Formats: sequence, structure tokens, C-alpha cells
Amino acid sequence: MRTIDWVDGAVELVDQTRLPDECVMVRITTVDRLIDAIRRLAVRGAPALGVAGALGVVLAGGDRDAIARLRAARPTAVNLAWGVDQAAAWLPKGREAVLETALRIRDEDIAACLAMGERGADLLTEGRPGGGLRIMTVCNAGGLAAVERGTALGVAQTLLERGRLAEVLALETRPLLQGARLTAWELARMGAPHRLVADGAGPYLLARGGVDAVLVGADRIAANGDTANKIGTYALALGAARAGVPFVVVAPETTIDFATPTGDGIEIEDRGAEEIVTVRGMRLAPEGTDAVNPAFDVTPHDLITAIVTDKRVIRP
Ligand code: MRU
Repeated sequence: MRTIDWVDGAVELVDQTRLPDECVMVRITTVDRLIDAIRRLAVRGAPALGVAGALGVVLAGGDRDAIARLRAARPTAVNLAWGVDQAAAWLPKGREAVLETALRIRDEDIAACLAMGERGADLLTEGRPGGGLRIMTVCNAGGLAAVERGTALGVAQTLLERGRLAEVLALETRPLLQGARLTAWELARMGAPHRLVADGAGPYLLARGGVDAVLVGADRIAANGDTANKIGTYALALGAARAGVPFVVVAPETTIDFATPTGDGIEIEDRGAEEIVTVRGMRLAPEGTDAVNPAFDVTPHDLITAIVTDKRVIRP
């Protein structure tokens, strides 16, 4: 299954807001509907947003205002703006050239995820001749966050295929529960042993022992290696450093933003109080309660053991 694709003149994507209850493909024919899908996280995850951005330029035609709105639909994942820019650069050559670029980005993403899976699994099993590994992850960095397979979860899938995966411990990922709704769904489909973990339990479980590595995706990696990813990633990195557990970021080269020198320059999306004080329409906190809701955090590069990309392993 592809999370996002171009089918008969339209963007088709899995509506991730409806998972795990139902897996529904939606067909999107206008750029405004695509922008809405991005904002409400029907399509999400940095690599998938890169493909969505590029395909969105095809839908936008030459509408520069719509392209600017698409580019800014979510600010943190650099892949969205990157995908838009890559495709928009071909506008002077016409629609076919834009579409060709978008489809190339889609195909390169599929190949990149396969390469990251292999490289990440090699890295984790190097010098460990046998036995399964226990992996901890946060949010969803699986096939739903890319076109197929994904980044951090793609490594888990490769380990599973090699008979080297003992278990994935997936953080539930408040407030939108990408771990509980999406990662657990993907792992079940994959046939991978897994258990869900409350976000606050992550660092304690690392301290208690038995986790071999933390694997996370990335939304933007600054030139110095500082990495923005789903809120809760930084706490896991701190816990992993304290416990001596390798903390590995898995992301395609397209997530590295050389124009941003350090993590301080990364814009962090704030998604407002409503997502915190309610869950799926049900009020949790007393009426009138305010909340702060950064959707991402930045893990400083010195807490990262390695960054695995489709081309290389980057160490501090
Ligand atoms: O808000 P989301 O669900 O788009 O956040 C996604 C993440 O933080 C992922 O970890 C990241 O995009 C990498 S996905 C391979």
C-alpha cells in the first residue's frame, strides 16, 4: 500500500485521521483540499509531506498564491517546502515537467526508505551476531509517514525481515496519538511484536534496561545535526544518554536543512490548546483551561549517537 500517490490525475492518500478505525483512501483534486489535508494531519510525516508538496504544485497549476500557502501549511518539516520548491522550479517548463519531478520525488522516497532500512539494520546489528533487538520509538516514522516502509520503522521492518527484531516499544505520542493510532496499526499489519508505552514512561523504561536502541524520525535536521522531531523525542534522547542506550535518528538526506545552522533556527509548530484539552472531541480539562502545545522539540546533536540517511551514517 502506498500512503500517497498520483492516480488518474489526482492525489490519492490514506486519511490518517481515520486510522485505526478504518483505512480509507481519499482522492484530492484541488490544492486547497490538499492544504486542508496537510493541516489536519490526514497526510503527515516529513517524507510524505515532501511528496504531498510536490504533487500539490501539480494541482496548483501556476497559482503562485496557492503554492505559497501550500509551502507554509506546516512549518517544521523541511520536506514540505523542499518538495514544493523542487516541483515549482519546473513550472516554466509546463505541467508535465512538474508532474515528472513530483513522481521522481515519490520514487526516490521509496528507494531512500529501503536504503535507510538496510543501513540502519546493519548499524544496529554490527558486532552483534545473533538475537533480537528491542527498539523504542516515538510518533509514527513508518510507511504512513512516507510513501512506503518509512524511516525509523523501516529499520524495524528490515530487522524483522532478518529475524533480528525482538520487540518495538512505541510511545503513544500525545496529543494526537500517532504512536497508538498509527505505529501500533502498522506494526500489527507487519506482524512485528510490539507494546504501547505511555509517553512519560519512556525515559524510565530506558533507565530500567532491556532497550537496545531508540530509533526516531526527523522533521528537520539543522546543519550542525540538531534535530527537530515529534514532541517527546528530546526527553527520550536525555533518557537514552543517561542510560547509555544508542539514540539513532533515521531520516532521508532531504530532511537535512543546510540553510539552518543550528536547532535554534527551526520554527516549531504550535498547534493550539484544543488538541491538549480535548481528545477526539471529548473534553479532558475543565472548561476554560488553557494549554501550550508545541508539536515538535529539538534534540541537540550531542545527544544523538548517529544519523542514518539513505546515503550514509553521520556520527557526532
Ligand atoms: O505531526 P506529525 O505526525 O507530522 O509528526 C511526524 C513526526 O514527528 C515524524 O517523526 C517525522 O515527520 C519523521 S517521519 C518519517
